[in-house]
Amino acid sequence: MSSKKEILEWYITSGVTETIGEHPINRFNKPEEKILLRKSILSPTTASIPEKQEQLPDNLLQTAVNLAQSAQTLDELKEAVLNFNGCALKKTAKNTVFGEGPTNAPIMFVGEAPGADEDRLGRPFVGVSGQLLDKIMSSVGLSREKNVYITNIIPWRPPGNRNPSSSEISLCMPFIERHIELLHPKILVMIGGVSTSSLTGSSSGIMKMRGNWITYQTPNLNSPIPAIPILHTAFLLRNPIQKRLAWKDILSIRQKMDELGLK
Ligand code: URA
Repeated sequence: MSSKKEILEWYITSGVTETIGEHPINRFNKPEEKILLRKSILSPTTASIPEKQEQLPDNLLQTAVNLAQSAQTLDELKEAVLNFNGCALKKTAKNTVFGEGPTNAPIMFVGEAPGADEDRLGRPFVGVSGQLLDKIMSSVGLSREKNVYITNIIPWRPPGNRNPSSSEISLCMPFIERHIELLHPKILVMIGGVSTSSLTGSSSGIMKMRGNWITYQTPNLNSPIPAIPILHTAFLLRNPIQKRLAWKDILSIRQKMDELGLK
């Protein structure tokens, strides 16, 4: 591995004497923004209603798809989620946690599912992991009061904060997909492994995917959205050493905002 001084000397002997950008570009990095065309379960054309869903009657999923698709505004989508009784998690939850933040926010963060505090208050990311998320966001000028909209893949708390099952995720996917389509943010941030695997359809682990920009595209979106997976703040609270990766990722988000001219 060469030292920084050696790299600099190599640049100078190669005739590179001027910098032409504000930010260094590591050209050894993997290419950014692979196009990711996830099969949307909303799309009548791809209609990828999962074949192997255990204990998931097709009509329930179709009801979710129809309800979500018929919503033309976020208020209508909230109404649709409140009217959907097909997911058993709703029965044990105290509240439906829909989402919050300016509806014209340029950045959308999508987490996994509400925890106890979120369930009690009906708001996303208000417990300790939400407080850490607020701190991370504020370090680069982001806040849910100003420019960030926050929601989750699942709007109801799984009992005891267990992981949501694949059937529960499938039933909620039509709603989060429509949520993203209606908000149409300029940047999409997937918080943690469940959010990332659900929205990308990828089975790669979050440690591998985090920090890598991809393009989120579903058939009903009229333009693709740059998207980035980040580590979940609940994981960071348990593994504080990994906050350095979170710092890298939030700086990458800031850089993308600057490139896109977002405030
Ligand atoms: N964790 C999540 O993924 N979402 C919340 O809203 C709170 C904690």
